[in-house]
Parts: sequence; structure tokens; C-alpha cells
Amino acid sequence: MDSIIVRGNGPLKGAIPISGAKNTCLKLMTAALLTDEPLTLTNVPRLSDIATLAHLLETLGVEIARLQDGRVMALSARSITNRRADYDIVRKLRASFNVLGPLLARENEAIVSLPGGCAIGARKVDLHLMALEKLGAEIRLEEGYVHAIAANGLTGAEIDFPMVSVGATENALAAAVLAKGTTVLKNAACEPDTVAFGECLQAMGAKIDGLGTREITIEGVDRLHGTTHEVIPDRIELGTFMIAPAICGGEVELLGGRRDLAEAFCDKLEEAGMSIQETDTGIRVARGNASIRAVDVTTAPFPGFPTDLQAQFMALMCTAEGTSRLEETIFENRFMHAPELIRMGADIDVQGGVATVTGVEKLKGAPVMATDLRASVSLILAGLAAEGETVVNRVYHLDRGYERIEEKLSAVGADIRRVRADG
Ligand code: UD1
Repeated sequence: MDSIIVRGNGPLKGAIPISGAKNTCLKLMTAALLTDEPLTLTNVPRLSDIATLAHLLETLGVEIARLQDGRVMALSARSITNRRADYDIVRKLRASFNVLGPLLARENEAIVSLPGGCAIGARKVDLHLMALEKLGAEIRLEEGYVHAIAANGLTGAEIDFPMVSVGATENALAAAVLAKGTTVLKNAACEPDTVAFGECLQAMGAKIDGLGTREITIEGVDRLHGTTHEVIPDRIELGTFMIAPAICGGEVELLGGRRDLAEAFCDKLEEAGMSIQETDTGIRVARGNASIRAVDVTTAPFPGFPTDLQAQFMALMCTAEGTSRLEETIFENRFMHAPELIRMGADIDVQGGVATVTGVEKLKGAPVMATDLRASVSLILAGLAAEGETVVNRVYHLDRGYERIEEKLSAVGADIRRVRADG
């Protein structure tokens, strides 16, 4: 298995292009199931998660053409040849569970494997199922699979989510666009990914109001048509690379980066001492002579501080002046990076959902590994600030969500390289 080797190498300087958003693109791809016309996506990130979902969609009968080196993807679901999403693929990628809503809406039946837990928590799907039941689906759990049937089609309903769920909002939205009548989603997610998904559905002919608010109203239509849609820049990749010059000094421009996609995060980074400037081509972030101060963070649904940037922010706080309190409210077990950071000399105390981090003078390189995507990248960031060599193992997690991370970081002066498993 490949590993990535990082050495602290002083301040960074230059520009990093931000790729299309993984989580947005995954959901947009599922929208192809809702129409027999082609859906073309541009600014597609080249990531293994995208390839995994593409493979799943192909098993359902979607024809996929990759153009411009994979940056453009044309998906055509002229007919659905299979209504069953297999465990072998769904277990690799939880977002595959989001084929359930579109398949059910198009075919009146879907059989999708339960995704199971993952390293960051139990990650239930009860809210997805509750929403589809409200829309009239009959749901049976059979041997690890969700079997959803709506013999007479789906019917609009009011769905009040007890907690905000990005995936459940998107599954419900996808199912409701072809349902008969009106659906109201209350306490809906307003993540940029969800808004982009809804906008793509609108461009396909769906009638949706209230995107970006906690209440979304959908008027069902008989059919959707094809469209071309550009994937928004990845706000999590953006935040990750904004932390790089914060942790090791310097000035970096994130090309294509948009502050409105990561406002709460940018506020915290400024509070910590970074200077952030919007430019014509993206966002410039500089540390200057400032030292990084400890800042408290609590993760929350958008527009709050994203849980997907908590691990990276913790890496930064490990070398900040003072003590910070990082509270995770979205996932119950999302501090697996803490023990690895401690192995690099960090001072972190985790009690339940709260990590107390006291900055240390210097982190020290070590062999580390992580069990999820964002945790892995936090170890790379820590390695950029550490003395000596950090070897990050289990790199396949990084390849799920970061495109050519070693190339992007070495282009701004980081000492980082990939060692292929075969030599
Ligand atoms: C999405 C993102 C993920 C991000 C997360 C929160 C994708 C592919 N992934 O995941 O990167 O970290 O949003 O911003 O878009 N929950 C339930 N029952 C459900 C559904 C969720 O209890 O049926 C709980 C989850 O366990 C979690 C919380 O709700 O504690 C939020 O999860 P959710 O917003 O659904 O996350 P995902 O859509 O899986």
C-alpha cells in the first residue's frame, strides 16, 4: 500500500488549484438516475470515491462517458437495468446510499444495501428511511438490504427531520421531485452540496423552492430532462489547503476558492491570526509574521464550522499559542486523529465530544496512520510543521477525497512525496 512521506520544510509560497467538490459531485451523479436523458457534469474531481460511485451506477444500467481526462462526465440512464445496489460497492462508499431516493422515484422500487457503520461513527440511515416512508414507500429490511417499494408511485408529504442530515435531505429531495403533489422538507440541510444538488435538479426541470434554507418545498413533476452542470469548488479541500500556510508559514493562493462556501471556517482562521483576502482568481491566505493563537471551535451543520475540517483545524491548534477547545457535535467518534497527533508530540486531551488542545513548540515526525479521509490529511498537515520525517500510511483514504495531494503541496514548496507500495 502506498504511503506519503512529509518533512517540515519551512514557509509555503505559490498557488494551489481547488478541484470540484467530491461530496457535491457524488450527489449530482445520482441525479442521472432521475431521467432518461444525459446529464453532463463538468469540473469533476478525479478521485477514487467518484470512480466507486460511477461503477455502482454502471451496475444499475447508467452509461458513463468520461471526457477531457475525466474532468467531464456524461451520464445516461436511458433505461435502468437493475434496481439493486450491491453491498460490495455500498460498503466502500456510504454516499452510494443516495441512489435509493432517485431509483425509487424513477422505478417505484429500489433495493439498496445498508451502508453499515464507519470509522467515524454508527452513521444511521433511519432519517433517510423515515423520509421515504412519508412519501409513501413501503420499506422492508431484508438480509442487510433496504427494499423500498412504492407500487403506485410516491406522493408528496410534509417531512420534519428531527436533526439535520445532509444525506437524508438529498435522498428525500431526489425522491420528491418526481412524486405526485407537494413535499415540504423541514429542518433540511443547507450545505452548499445540497443547494448545488437542488439547483441541478431545477435545471433538469424540477420545481423546488427554499434551497439554502431550513425549509424546502418541492412540487412534483412528471419527468425530468437532461442538463449540463458544473461542480462547485471543494470547500473542504479549500479549508485543508488554507491550513497548510497557517501551520508552516508563508502565503498561498487557492485558485477557484470561494469564501462564501467556507465562511465560518475562514472566520476562525482569521481569529487564529491568518490574513485572508479574496482575489479575482480565488482566495489568498498569508501568515506573515503573526503567530497562531488558540481558538475554540464547535462543529455544526452549515453555515456552522464543518465537521469535515475539524481534524485539520486540530492539527493547526497543536502548534498554536495557548489552549483551544474543539467540540465535535456531528459525529460521535471523530477524534481518531488525536492519538496519532499525540504520537507526534501534540498535547491533546479528549473527553467525549470535546478535545482540549494545548499548543506545543514543535511537533516531531513519526510513522502514523489514520482510519478516515479527513483524519489522514490532518496528519499530513501536522507533518508539514513537524521536525523530521512523517510517514502517513493507508494513503487510500487520501485518494478517496484529495486529488494529487502530494503534487499540489509540493508545487508550493512542501517536502512531500508518495512512495509506491511496489518500490
Ligand atoms: C455528509 C458528508 C460528510 C459530512 C456530513 C456532515 C457526503 C457524501 N458526506 O455525510 O462528509 O461529514 O455530511 O456534514 O456528502 N444521522 C442519523 N440518521 C440518519 C442520517 C444521519 O442519525 O438517517 C446522523 C449521523 O449519524 C450524523 C448526523 O446525523 O451523526 C449527520 O449526518 P449526515 O448529515 O447525514 O451526514 P452524511 O450525509 O452521511
